[in-house]
Amino acid sequence: MSGRAPLPDWYDDLSGSLNAAWGAMTRGALDRRSAFHHPVIATIGPDGWPRQRVMILRAVDPEMRSLRFHTDIRSEKARDIAAEPRVSVLAYDPASKIQLRLNGQATLHHADHIADAAWQGSQRMSRACYGTMPGPGSVIGQGSAFSLPDTSDETALETGRANFVAMLVRVERLEWLYLAYEGHRRAQFEWNADGKVSARWLAP
Ligand SMILES: Cc1cc2nc3c(=O)[nH]c(=O)nc-3n(C[C@H](O)[C@H](O)[C@H](O)COP(=O)(O)O)c2cc1C
Repeated sequence: MSGRAPLPDWYDDLSGSLNAAWGAMTRGALDRRSAFHHPVIATIGPDGWPRQRVMILRAVDPEMRSLRFHTDIRSEKARDIAAEPRVSVLAYDPASKIQLRLNGQATLHHADHIADAAWQGSQRMSRACYGTMPGPGSVIGQGSAFSLPDTSDETALETGRANFVAMLVRVERLEWLYLAYEGHRRAQFEWNADGKVSARWLAP
């Protein structure tokens, strides 16, 4: 008895691994204890430098190959994406030993039904963050030199709506890495313009 967990069904199965990847992300969006709940998103800045930050994964739609995040339109990342929509998303879950690295195109939804629905689904505390004055990334004289709306005041909370954006990432490439004692498994999935996926194993 090695004491190791049995290998998963999808260990040597490309489409099974892809399903496992979407399942992990879908559950991650719902489970705040999952490592997939807070992936790192990289954008490309106007100076050509990559910039990364942690963001909460709010929702996943495997059919549409889309991930939803929320942010402030005044943030650097929103400015980056408006100029260059190509992003990379990275997460590693030590519990399942799965790393996911995705590439896709991001769109910002500010004044449409996607943004409205996302705002309606947000918690009061989250809404307050979008009413920060001055905006995120502004230089301030001291750490406390910013204000947030009063969370008990509905009208004040609504001021954040003007700064709120839902960001959808449409996945075009997904790289899967599963760490296993018996041998790691690495695979790449790419979707063409017609939505057809091509899948291949890579040497880990
Ligand atoms: C656990 C965690 C979750 C976060 N979630 C978000 C988020 O959902 N949206 C967001 O805009 N920033 C989020 N942040 C803050 C960003 O990582 C980042 O510091 C901030 O948005 C400024 O990024 P920017 O200057 O690149 O725009 C989160 C940070 C942490 C540590």
